[in-house]
Amino acid sequence: MSHLHINRVEIAGFFVLYGQRVDCINNVWVVGTEDEVVVIDASHDAAPIIEAIAGRTVSAIAITHGHPDHLNVADALGDATGAPVLIHPDDRFFWDEFQPDRVPDGALRDGGTLSAGTHRLTVIHTPGHSPGSVCFRVDDIVFTGDTIFQGGPGATDRPRGDFPTIISSIRDRLLVLPSQTVVHPGHGPSTQIGVEEPLYRQFADLLPGSA
Ligand SMILES: [Fe+2]
Repeated sequence: MSHLHINRVEIAGFFVLYGQRVDCINNVWVVGTEDEVVVIDASHDAAPIIEAIAGRTVSAIAITHGHPDHLNVADALGDATGAPVLIHPDDRFFWDEFQPDRVPDGALRDGGTLSAGTHRLTVIHTPGHSPGSVCFRVDDIVFTGDTIFQGGPGATDRPRGDFPTIISSIRDRLLVLPSQTVVHPGHGPSTQIGVEEPLYRQFADLLPGSA
């Protein structure tokens, strides 16, 4: 099995969500081998992403969730690479608002896999930040979009975000991963499941029905 290559592309931009301008820097992840990659998210500017792809075949452009800063160049990147752009159906309502001129090429579903050369990324549905938020696991690495950051969960104050739901997703789907699992989020620095776990255990204790 050939070595897994991971390129992190940091891209600054902004978006307007329901009248509020948000400036942000996104991590776009290019993951795969010397021959084939999956691109995780399509943020702000296709050019540096295409540069990181460096001529390799793109098997999929996988969108972690439908907020505009994660898909606002999905159309340009899809056109430039010819790769299918995929999003979870539960965030299709965001896609239709922010990418109205193009339809997604397919759906991400829990337990599905994406191929990146000899490696496989597994889709983990982690609703809460948005209904269709997903993470992607490959080997001892998980790409978390806006579900987990270093130091806290993603915001849940946007339409159809829900705090108990994100905490349940993290507890039931991410904290069960080995503690040494590396977390590569959609914004900011990377971390590890075991480093973040104590914080989320505190949140989970607040959930209704927790002992
Ligand atoms: Fe988001």
